[in-house]
Amino acid sequence: MPIEPWFPLAIYYADLENAAEQKDSLVSNVLKLEKESYKKRIDSDIAWTGDFHGAGHIHQDPNFAWIVKQLETHTLRFLEELGIDISKIDLYIQRAWPVVSRADQAIPPHSHHTAHVSAVYYISVPESGTLKSGAFTIYNDAGMNEIIAGLGDEHTNAINRKNPFNYEEGYYAPTEGRLLIFPSKQRHGVEANQTGETRISLSFDIVITSAENGDPGLYEFLSPPPSMWKKFEQN
Ligand SMILES: [Fe+2]
Repeated sequence: MPIEPWFPLAIYYADLENAAEQKDSLVSNVLKLEKESYKKRIDSDIAWTGDFHGAGHIHQDPNFAWIVKQLETHTLRFLEELGIDISKIDLYIQRAWPVVSRADQAIPPHSHHTAHVSAVYYISVPESGTLKSGAFTIYNDAGMNEIIAGLGDEHTNAINRKNPFNYEEGYYAPTEGRLLIFPSKQRHGVEANQTGETRISLSFDIVITSAENGDPGLYEFLSPPPSMWKKFEQN
């Protein structure tokens, strides 16, 4: 009596070589950016996120060149695994920012609406590899097998055996030196850091356009490359 698992969500991860030797320099560069940033403008129970505080361009900062190169390599591998013809697209890092999560800080559920592919890299994780250090959580909004909406909700509670066909969330234990890549549209969040120590990570947003000089047929569903855009002279 087989059941086929059709249409799975693809989340890529890689444990990067040289992560340990890059750690100290990345940590100090992130903490420097945090120190020099805008005054914290979000609640104290939410992690410090560089994009909100003027530190959203680490992809242009030579201090982060190593991880940017790793991100590019692994993103291409991910897209190739998804069956995408890399020769037909160009990829751009749109923004990239550090996240500093101190005791009990979390990041509420959200999606990255302006990008196509997103990634997180864990530079420094207390109690690495455990859910205590602030699990990266992905939410099953598609509900492919939720044959009646709300069956698993707290009052109905009519699902008594969790399995990949009915998971409502998936959890990744943050792991030092690990790069995680996922579709930007996938809603996700970060659980509270329960270790009492600081976790430091980087986030990336990548945009995909048609390749330069690509066949015009590509433009139906791929944005033309930015070199073909014209900015309004006034607005
Ligand atoms: Fe996010």
